[in-house]
Amino acid sequence: MTLPLFEKYPALEKALPWMSIGDYPTPVQKMENLGREIGYSNLWIKRDDKSSGIYGGNKVRKLEFAIADALRKKKKYMITVGGVGTNHGLATTILCSNAGIKTVLVLIPQPITDKVQENLLLDRHFGAEINTGHSTLEVYLRAAWALLTHPKFYLLWAGGTSPLSTLGYVNAALELKGQIDAGVLPEPKYIFVATGSMGTTAGLIVGARLAGLKSRIIGVKVSMDEYSNVRGTVSLANKTAALMRRYDRTVPEMRFTPADFDLELNFFGGEYGRVTPEGEAAVDLIKKTEDIGLETTYTGKTLAAMFDFVKKDKSLNGAPVLFWNTYNSVDYSETVRQCGGYKTLPGNAQWVCKDNLIPYLK
Ligand SMILES: Cc1ncc(COP(=O)(O)O)c(C=O)c1O
Repeated sequence: MTLPLFEKYPALEKALPWMSIGDYPTPVQKMENLGREIGYSNLWIKRDDKSSGIYGGNKVRKLEFAIADALRKKKKYMITVGGVGTNHGLATTILCSNAGIKTVLVLIPQPITDKVQENLLLDRHFGAEINTGHSTLEVYLRAAWALLTHPKFYLLWAGGTSPLSTLGYVNAALELKGQIDAGVLPEPKYIFVATGSMGTTAGLIVGARLAGLKSRIIGVKVSMDEYSNVRGTVSLANKTAALMRRYDRTVPEMRFTPADFDLELNFFGGEYGRVTPEGEAAVDLIKKTEDIGLETTYTGKTLAAMFDFVKKDKSLNGAPVLFWNTYNSVDYSETVRQCGGYKTLPGNAQWVCKDNLIPYLK
């Protein structure tokens, strides 16, 4: 299979590392029940939670580039960083192990939820080496040291974000355009997406421009300022566009500025991973009305921001609004049940899972 990105810019396919992992296009559906519940009848969802039957969510599109790059460079280990419950770390662990690459995680504390505990147990189950640090600086120094001392290590920054992996979301916007053209959904006036390490948002901004989409991207900040900010998103969009043009001169020259998107700051809650009441309520409501499972660190906050927006913005006039679901929906509860509990974790990580919050393990 090939990607809309490569169909449009064939020179990129020849030049850039990419391997097929996901199932595309991911489905789009109208959220009728949820719309009825909140009094807005034109809500849509892009189901990137179904991006792969192995492990879904937004990391798949990024890792198709990053893992292929690591294999091309003959790397044997993927080292990456994040909170102790990082979805990115788990996606990397599972998808890299399928590609014969071992994942080394360097993790920092974050508020503990059932999803955080599930992810850490699964990291271990799928063979990740788990290291913990106390601060972002320490984690980055340890990752940098590992990189310097081990030639077979490939470094993925937090969230798996780089200009190369951001191409996964440039492609995703082109994919959405194909679905609009095919009549699967109307062109959204707004697209809401979680902004953690900014790769997903930046990719959609670039892709929307290339696809000629009029949809405005609204990133919802869910991480600390150093990871989620306007300047960084714009800079990543520009670097991604430059990367494309370097390998394919048919890509138009593009310059992105802060005017090209919005970053909603009011749903962060002051701390990465902190459970907010609005986020939790949004997770509960989409579960009840559409039977879609989200989490409270990224997608719950993003959906809460979208609810607030459609309730308040009087100029919308019932226009279509799309929520981009970036969380995995492949059910790993049976694997978690068989994981063997917190004692399987290295000593310095056991505290995360010691007081169990996972409902089905109680
Ligand atoms: C479920 C989920 N949504 C959104 C994001 C944020 O994506 P990005 O880091 O590309 O901004 C992440 C990142 O880990 C995630 O796990």
